[in-house]
Amino acid sequence: MKVLLTGGAGYIGSHTAVELINAGHEAIVADNFANSSPEATKRVEQITGKSVPLYELDVCDKAALEKLFAAERPDAVIHLAGLKAVGESVAKPVLYYRNNIDSTLSLLEVMEEYGCNRLIFSSSATVYGAPDTLPITEESKAGGCTNPYGWTKYMIERIIEGAAVANKNLSAVLLRYFNPVGAHESGLIGEKPNGIPNNLMPYICKVAGGELKELSVFGNDYNTHDGTGVRDYIHVVDLAKGHVAALGYCAENSGTEIFNLGTGIGYSVLDMVNAFERANGVPVAHRIAPRRPGDIDACYADPSKAARLLGWKAEKNLDDMCRDSWTWQKNCLAGK
Ligand code: UFG
Repeated sequence: MKVLLTGGAGYIGSHTAVELINAGHEAIVADNFANSSPEATKRVEQITGKSVPLYELDVCDKAALEKLFAAERPDAVIHLAGLKAVGESVAKPVLYYRNNIDSTLSLLEVMEEYGCNRLIFSSSATVYGAPDTLPITEESKAGGCTNPYGWTKYMIERIIEGAAVANKNLSAVLLRYFNPVGAHESGLIGEKPNGIPNNLMPYICKVAGGELKELSVFGNDYNTHDGTGVRDYIHVVDLAKGHVAALGYCAENSGTEIFNLGTGIGYSVLDMVNAFERANGVPVAHRIAPRRPGDIDACYADPSKAARLLGWKAEKNLDDMCRDSWTWQKNCLAGK
């Protein structure tokens, strides 16, 4: 299939482009480079040996999107474009609602105009808010989001569901990612956050590489095995393969289906620090700090629905995640 990836030059998009091409699909990337660079797509071409058409555009810009659809006629879209910084979304909620929702509306309109009926949306476990029970299944209560970013994901899910009720030809898959980490094993693509990272793994990498002094472990009085927050970290290459599996599902079904993409295993902040030090033989200076507002004790997936219906399962382990993150970080430090 010819697949358009909105936000395809970003962290998850670039890895997904590689796995789509590896599976025999064609990838087209649209990105405004707000938090990415065209270099990532060049690297995708380098890894796969295939050319990837790259369109610099904002998905909110309907006319630009129409031009792309007229030229490329994609069979499916993986919609990853969007603003994603939780803290920034609290400070600039209107920007987040405007950007993330407007872009999705433009995309849905243009897809309908051009008869493109397969859509995969990049959602997040954040839509579950603070879960009542663990592990989290797709039937767990969603909607108790704690920030505007999370609400945009939740609202877009409802918008897509509604569009698929009205348009019986539309087949949509909503993928709720848990915590993506790691990088492609080539060390050519990975996560490059703007400024000081908010997320745990990029922060650990920068401490290990000497760019930041120490990691603040946000709270050690959570209701978890060592008191630090527990999350379901998933290797970005496994996550990318989940999109390929979802594409196959999308092609054979109609309506909207939701899948958790996680490993089903929860690791604490200290588990992550220890695993990173063990896997890479580098120290990660850290100290216990106060809790970060809005954080929850624990969050991990029940990924069995994806295994059952998509035939997908995460295969990489914690060592792979730590090793590949560090390889990428070292390459970035070396200016590669
Ligand atoms: N943490 C620290 N120190 C840091 C950064 C994080 O101790 O410097 C801890 C957090 O308190 C948490 C864990 O590491 O316990 C993971 O934090 P992240 O910021 O890496 O990830 P979150 O689970 O908070 O959020 C992530 C994404 C969101 C997404 C959510 C889905 O950032 O976009 O997962 O559950 F919505």
